[in-house]
Amino acid sequence: MINLINPPSEATALDVATGGGHTAISLAKRVEQVVAIDITPEMLAEAEKASSLEDISNITFRAEDVHNLNIPDCQFDIVTSRFAAHHFSDVKKALQEMCRVLKPGGKLYILDCSVFDGVEPEKEINRIELLRDSLHQCSYSPCLWHQLLKELPLTIDQTSLLREQYELPQWFDRMGTDQNSREEIFRILSSLSEECKIRYPFGDDYITTYRFEILATKS
Ligand SMILES: C[S@@+](CC[C@H](N)C(=O)[O-])C[C@H]1O[C@@H](n2cnc3c(N)ncnc32)[C@H](O)[C@@H]1O
Repeated sequence: MINLINPPSEATALDVATGGGHTAISLAKRVEQVVAIDITPEMLAEAEKASSLEDISNITFRAEDVHNLNIPDCQFDIVTSRFAAHHFSDVKKALQEMCRVLKPGGKLYILDCSVFDGVEPEKEINRIELLRDSLHQCSYSPCLWHQLLKELPLTIDQTSLLREQYELPQWFDRMGTDQNSREEIFRILSSLSEECKIRYPFGDDYITTYRFEILATKS
């Protein structure tokens, strides 16, 4: 992310849905000031603790909902969000808000879980993600991401679909997925079409997923 954004040292950045603060902390080491927001106060407390452990003092943590940011227009040189868009209940509104607070010429960086283009992966892989994590809303395919992005005042600098393999059962354990859901996930994977199985190989000890990475500039 840092290599892709190449942030200037005088930049100000907003990290949306900061979670444990990993993205905000990486940015804070490179830019002047970071605002890190998350809807969950407990996550903000964890992020703040992690930043203190690294002696980082240029992050402000705030409880905010991305759908309705309490921030004036055009404030930030950089807006980031990693592994969070799939939780947003209204991704269009969330993206509008992220763009609104970005200065013209500012950079928007998004990384999130994604699915391969096509009706089957969009439906079946999202069923799997929802079984694994009951808070999952939607993993967008590259095609859906491009539809969302073209409605915004943005120039796309780069997008990439990245294939990932996760170890099982750790991928389930991290979200506390129950046994019935784990079995249902294997049933879904086994009944995918041959074409889809090529995109989503799996075994007893691994599963394949995708991520989508976006770098864009506000017009
Ligand atoms: C997987 S974590 C994010 C990880 C983090 N961004 C990173 O880079 O490691 C997802 C976060 O999204 C937050 N979140 C979900 N819905 C949100 C919303 N509407 N507004 C702000 N944060 C939200 C959750 O509270 C959670 O902390």
